[in-house]
Amino acid sequence: MAYLEISGVDKVFGTDGKPGQKVLALEGINFAVEQGEIYALLGPSGCGKSTILEIVAGFERPTRGTVLFDGARITGPEPERAMVFQQPNLFPWLTVIDNVMFGPRVQGQSDMRAAAKRAGHLLEICGLGGFEKRYPYQLSGGMRQRVAIVRVLMNNPRVLLMDEPFGALDALTRLTMQELLLAIWGELKPTIIFVTHDVDEALFLADRVGVMSRRPGRMKREVGVEIGRPRDVDVMITPKFTALKSMLIHELRNEAQATDGAPQDHTKILTG
Ligand SMILES: Nc1ncnc2c1ncn2[C@@H]1O[C@H](COP(=O)(O)OP(=O)(O)O)[C@@H](O)[C@H]1O
Ligand SMILES: [Mg+2]
Repeated sequence: MAYLEISGVDKVFGTDGKPGQKVLALEGINFAVEQGEIYALLGPSGCGKSTILEIVAGFERPTRGTVLFDGARITGPEPERAMVFQQPNLFPWLTVIDNVMFGPRVQGQSDMRAAAKRAGHLLEICGLGGFEKRYPYQLSGGMRQRVAIVRVLMNNPRVLLMDEPFGALDALTRLTMQELLLAIWGELKPTIIFVTHDVDEALFLADRVGVMSRRPGRMKREVGVEIGRPRDVDVMITPKFTALKSMLIHELRNEAQATDGAPQDHTKILTG
């Protein structure tokens, strides 16, 4: 059995009793992620990528199907399955170190010295050493996102659920953040589900890429990224990378063309 197993998952929104349309967001989603693996979910906007992460995080329940983590059914959110969003959501009135130590403080962790030591170490790995006393408004977007990642890593999560975490950053910062994520992964080896619609990003980071169809989201294809680690930017110009990239772009383009200018598939919007 895999570490994380998503089997036969459907998600219908709008079944909460309120009148209105029901939307079939996910249909028959099956995939499994091994411990320590980086799995990228790639698909067009609205195909249900965030919904899958919300289900694995325990914020949403599947309408049908099961999600098993380490052999047990997911029943709700736990710090061991941590979500990283596109917007860092830091407390603007707290310094970097106070943002990072917020969790341990409210949880009343007994060993605050160990927590402070861990914070210092993680800030260092993330290139934030020396910025502990800054406030979020004094940091760049990339640095704010790094603080958010450190804050999540303080809980020592076993699974990182990353929802287009670098989507709001400029291209160069984005690349630096991808390299940083690989460095963090090299040290802590968390299991990562990384949602993106960027083919380069998916291939640079992941061990496998799951390509989704447009809504209702289905798993269309799964591609193994047989590129060794550690990886640096130079892998992006290798023949293996460019061949995979071209194949994935075609897969995605087929999905995009299916919706461009054409009406949505109304048979999949169930009437409530
Ligand atoms: N809470 C919700 N209520 C109703 N519809 C929703 C809700 N969340 C998402 N959806 C719909 O489900 C589909 C998938 O959304 P989402 O998972 O956010 O897609 P993605 O992250 O791939 O862009 C979209 O059509 C979206 O409008
Ligand atoms: Mg989304």
